[in-house]
Parts: sequence; structure tokens; C-alpha cells
Amino acid sequence: MPRPDHAVFLKRSFSKMDQLATPFLTGPRLRKQLAGVVPFGTDGIVVELGAGPGALADDIRSRLGPGARYLAVEIDEELVAHLRTHKPWLEVVQGDVNDLEKILDDAGIDRVDAFVSTLPWAVFPQEMRLKVMGVIARRLVPGGVMSMIITWMALPNRVRDLRALLDTHFDEVVETATEWRNPPPARTFLCRRPFPRFDVR
Ligand SMILES: C[S@@+](CC[C@H](N)C(=O)[O-])C[C@H]1O[C@@H](n2cnc3c(N)ncnc32)[C@H](O)[C@@H]1O
Repeated sequence: MPRPDHAVFLKRSFSKMDQLATPFLTGPRLRKQLAGVVPFGTDGIVVELGAGPGALADDIRSRLGPGARYLAVEIDEELVAHLRTHKPWLEVVQGDVNDLEKILDDAGIDRVDAFVSTLPWAVFPQEMRLKVMGVIARRLVPGGVMSMIITWMALPNRVRDLRALLDTHFDEVVETATEWRNPPPARTFLCRRPFPRFDVR
């Protein structure tokens, strides 16, 4: 991972800790796990939520086929500027995932093959979680998948609420073992087969 990525992220964490949730970028093992939901050689659409300075971008890109589209959504203007400078090949949208439906519509994206999220879900209000998770569940193609990370900095009751949210949206939720070598320790959730009741637009 290039040094400037860490530097800009650490700098933003001083003023935006609530938004970034951690001063550390996702480590290599979890990056691989999160990006691993992107089918190798896919020509589909991949949407990354909370791209930061691009910690996962190369892992995701390495799995894409020539016809794939990879859109990265990030709220922070400095991190977006960093992405545009350091990952010029990446399609970046500066925006709040609270507006995910509009972001996808504006980008001309109807269905998504894989969502990859490192968003700080645990700090989002429940209303926002419901709204964003509903969009993800509705927009995934059949056979699509979402991966997300949750760190040990999240309070246990928030993790329980989050797990319940996933269980009400997806038929399959796989929770991986904690990766203790990640700074901070974290695990991933891999979610497939959103319940059809969310597919009403
Ligand atoms: C834990 S960091 C992950 C950064 C990087 N993807 C990684 O894996 O190291 C969470 C990222 O989500 C972004 N974020 C937080 N709230 C957001 C929101 N409402 N909409 C879009 N991005 C958001 C933050 O600015 C931050 O870059």
C-alpha cells in the first residue's frame, strides 16, 4: 500500500474520526477477503462504498475483466481528490451513501454485481442503515454479493444490531473469523441472496 494513502488517511482521521472510524487502512488479508467477492474476470458492475484513499482499489481492479465497471463512492473531499490523483483509472463519485439510490441512478447503474463496503456502519443511525441496506438489497443482481467489514472498535450492541439488519435483508450471511493481525482487528460479513421483498421499485 503506497505511503501517501496512509498519510492522507491519517491526516483526515484527526478531523473526521467519526466519519473514518479508524486511523488505519484495511490490512492486506481483509482487503483480499473483501475484494474476493468480485468474481474473477467479471464484466459486471462493482460498487465500492467508502473507498477512502483507495486501499482496496488495486485488489478489486486485479479481479476485473475488460468489460467491467468499477465505481467508488466516497464522502470526504480530500480523499476523493487523492483518489482522482493516484487512481486516475477509477470512476469516483463524491457523495454520501445516504443518497446511494440517486448516486446509482445518476451513474446510469441499475443493477450491481458486487458491493464492497468498508463504511463505518456501526456509527450510522439505524434509519440510515435501513435506507442504504435497502438500496443495496434491491440493486444486487440475482447471484450478486455484498462484502463488508466490521472492526473490534464497534460496540457489541451495535454489532448485534448490524448483524440483525443483515439477517433481515439477506438469505445468506457468512461471518468470517476475526483477523487479529488487521489494525484494528476486524472481520467481514459476506452477504448473498437478498430477500425478494426488497426488489420492489
Ligand atoms: C474505515 S474507512 C475505510 C477506508 C478504506 N476503504 C479502507 O478500507 O481502508 C471508511 C470510509 O468511509 C467513508 N465514509 C464514511 N461515511 C460515509 C458516507 N456516509 N458516504 C460515503 N462514504 C463514507 C469515510 O470517509 C472513509 O473513507
